[in-house]
Amino acid sequence: MCVLCCVAKRKPFSWWSLLLCVCVADMALGQVRYSIPEEMATGSLVGNIIQDLGLDVKRLKSGRARIFTEDGSEYIGLNAEKGTLVVSKRIDREELCKQVSPCSLHFQIILENPMELHRIDVEITDINDNAPFFSKKEYGFQVIESALPGARYSLESARDPDVAHNTIQTYKLNPTDNFKLNVVSRPDGTKYIEMVLHASLDREKQEEHKLTLTAFDGGNPQKSGSIKINVIVLDANDNAPVFSQSVYRVTVPENASRGTVILKVTATDNDKGTNEEVVYSFSQHTDSASSLFIMDPHTGEMTVGGVLDYEKVKQYEVDIEATDKGGLTDTSKVIIEVTDLNDNAPAISIISLSNPIPEDSTPGTVIAMLNIKDLDSGRNGQIKCFISSDLPFKIKSSSTNFYSLISDDVLDRETVPEHNITITAMDEGSPPYSTNKTINLRISDVNDHAPMFPQQIVTAFITENNSPGMSLLSVKATDNDSGNNARISYFLEDSHLNGMSASAYFSVNAESGDILAVRSFDYESTKQFSIRVKAQDGGSPPLSSNVTVKILIQDQNDNPPQVLYPVQTGGSVVAEMVPRSADVGYLVTKVVAVDVDSGQNAWLSYKLQKATDRALFEVGLQNGEIRTIRQVTDKDTVKQRLTVIVEDNGQPSRSATVIVNVAVADSFPEVLSEFTDFPHDKEYNDNLTFYLVLALAVVSFLFITCLVVIISVKIYRWRRERLFYKSSGNLPVIPYYPPLYADVGGTGTLKQAFSCEVYGTTDSRKNNIKCAQPFSQGTLGVDHSDTRTVPRHKTESETMLTEVSSISILTAMPSNTYSSTNPADFKNNTHY
Ligand SMILES: *[C@@H]1O[C@H](CO)[C@@H](O)[C@H](O)[C@H]1NC(C)=O
Ligand SMILES: *[C@@H]1O[C@H](CO)[C@@H](O)[C@H](O)[C@H]1NC(C)=O
Repeated sequence: MCVLCCVAKRKPFSWWSLLLCVCVADMALGQVRYSIPEEMATGSLVGNIIQDLGLDVKRLKSGRARIFTEDGSEYIGLNAEKGTLVVSKRIDREELCKQVSPCSLHFQIILENPMELHRIDVEITDINDNAPFFSKKEYGFQVIESALPGARYSLESARDPDVAHNTIQTYKLNPTDNFKLNVVSRPDGTKYIEMVLHASLDREKQEEHKLTLTAFDGGNPQKSGSIKINVIVLDANDNAPVFSQSVYRVTVPENASRGTVILKVTATDNDKGTNEEVVYSFSQHTDSASSLFIMDPHTGEMTVGGVLDYEKVKQYEVDIEATDKGGLTDTSKVIIEVTDLNDNAPAISIISLSNPIPEDSTPGTVIAMLNIKDLDSGRNGQIKCFISSDLPFKIKSSSTNFYSLISDDVLDRETVPEHNITITAMDEGSPPYSTNKTINLRISDVNDHAPMFPQQIVTAFITENNSPGMSLLSVKATDNDSGNNARISYFLEDSHLNGMSASAYFSVNAESGDILAVRSFDYESTKQFSIRVKAQDGGSPPLSSNVTVKILIQDQNDNPPQVLYPVQTGGSVVAEMVPRSADVGYLVTKVVAVDVDSGQNAWLSYKLQKATDRALFEVGLQNGEIRTIRQVTDKDTVKQRLTVIVEDNGQPSRSATVIVNVAVADSFPEVLSEFTDFPHDKEYNDNLTFYLVLALAVVSFLFITCLVVIISVKIYRWRRERLFYKSSGNLPVIPYYPPLYADVGGTGTLKQAFSCEVYGTTDSRKNNIKCAQPFSQGTLGVDHSDTRTVPRHKTESETMLTEVSSISILTAMPSNTYSSTNPADFKNNTHY
């Protein structure tokens, strides 16, 4: 048998079509092998069996050659006419054999008559008809950015159904910045690919990496397939938060209330998600400020959490931290400057104070030193200090913050005893704050006022015969000063009153100013005193003033009238003669009486108390004239006895009686005979003559002795006071009016001469006697009008007045219309 080697002719590579034909001797077992590439078009020639099997067309026809396949597939058809094998159906090697190589089709060509079997093998060779491919178009990866270089990520291999060269030969990854490709052969010869990280990822730089993996086969032309690899970089907490500023500066007014947002800090973290979340806090070591400020951990808002006070702390430095969830931190500093507000009033403090100050302090005296402070700064702390302008004080700035309060005027405690000095300190803030401080400054007293009496002269009245120790009046002085300077003591100023020290008459209570009479006064001797009382205060030196006190003694009816005429003698009888021829209204005599009292107490009235014959005489009520009221007759007895009572007008009244003997006779002998044998006298003589004479003698002796003694004493005193009065020795002698009083022409006036002119009415109360002034010193001028214009010399002779009162009274005695002016006459006619 012959083995044919057939050469399959292929278009591109002719040499590949050389087929080795093996001729097998046994014809029945003839076997031909062909080789064709896959995917040949239908009808393409596979081989010529006529040649290769040595058959001819006739035989093919007679043998009814046909192709027999075991599986019935009909990829290859037989063209019996030409004796060729052609492709009858598309042959896909990959479908036919998958990856088995070589890949062959086996069939039999069967001939009949005789039966002939020819085995044909057609080897299907691969052509690069498939490109490598991946099962997905895209492939996503998630890689944490913190992955270390060398990390491996396996990739899906591509597939290529072709075989041998035509299948995948290489892979390529692009770009390869971070990853490179690694092809790993397994021990069983299979390969897989993986991606190896060779440069660290940074999510913050690039979050997504787009890579392309391309697989190449070895065919010609080469084919490739690629897949997109999406690498998503997962965040790792690899970034710390970062504050937006390394130092934050903020200013806050000091009155910022709690909760005021003063600042918002921000820190950014480049990480993502929870790694990006930042928590803000104060650094541990800034605890002092953290009580005043509150940091919101999430928002970074810083708020005021306490009370700020510029005056305490002007600036805070707070360290703050931002921390992310991973514990990475950043720190920063917040400088908080507290700004001043005018929230402090000035404070006034008194460093020293002189209180009280004496009222004689000179202007400019420092009263107080002040320190005025304002805690605020700038204009808020600048202070103006002033006081009310109407005060006699002023404020002077001595140095910064120190002021002195000084007096600016003369002070007078008596007008303003204290001053309320309100010091106002005001700062220059807006609005300004001010503070007041009031100093209650007392002015202490200086003895600059003397005691003052309300009047220069005060008058007191006291009735004579007062009891010693009686209070006359009280003088009161006032002193405008105070305290001891106003404590007044009263003193009687020493002077001489009637030759005696004033203190012999009066005393003054030093405390109360009460003036007391030391002794009893007699109006008849002294009518008034004038003393001076001094008021002296207790200052040092003391000041004083004085007041004149006039004490007027007031009369009391303490003296009864004194009958001057007719003289009452003890034994002898004096009688008035009335001629029997006397007419009606004949002036028999005149009862003359005086009263040393004055005023009403000296107004005398005369009344007939008893009379021998009431029908014959009457007494003038006011003038004491005794007149006949009818014609005297012979029947009228010679001896007439009248009792006249003289009364003064005092309350109660005092009186005196006088017996007037009237002899109604024409001749003196007649009278004598009548009066010698007075039966009344006889009786006396008979019974008591002896005793009376004895008693009279004794009494007379005593009286005269007393009189002599008294007179001697008086004379001695007068002489000592160099007062001389010639007639003193005669006193007191009751004047005797001889009976030569004669009726001067029926007017009833007495012919008498006086040195005083008496003008008056019939009313003795209205008498006005004017005395001429021829009297030498020592004689008396009595002014019955009771005026105060007493001649000066009278004061000196006041003590004498007591003694000579009878004389003065004598001048006043004539009651009605005496008009004689010749003092000589007076002297001559009066009988001393
Ligand atoms: C001073 O103030 C005191 C107390 O407020 C008051 O009693 C007094 O009358 C005031 N004096 C003057 C002079 O205003
Ligand atoms: C009495 O006071 C007056 C003024 O009031 C003064 O002139 C006189 O000197 C004073 N007399 C005496 C004794 O002090």
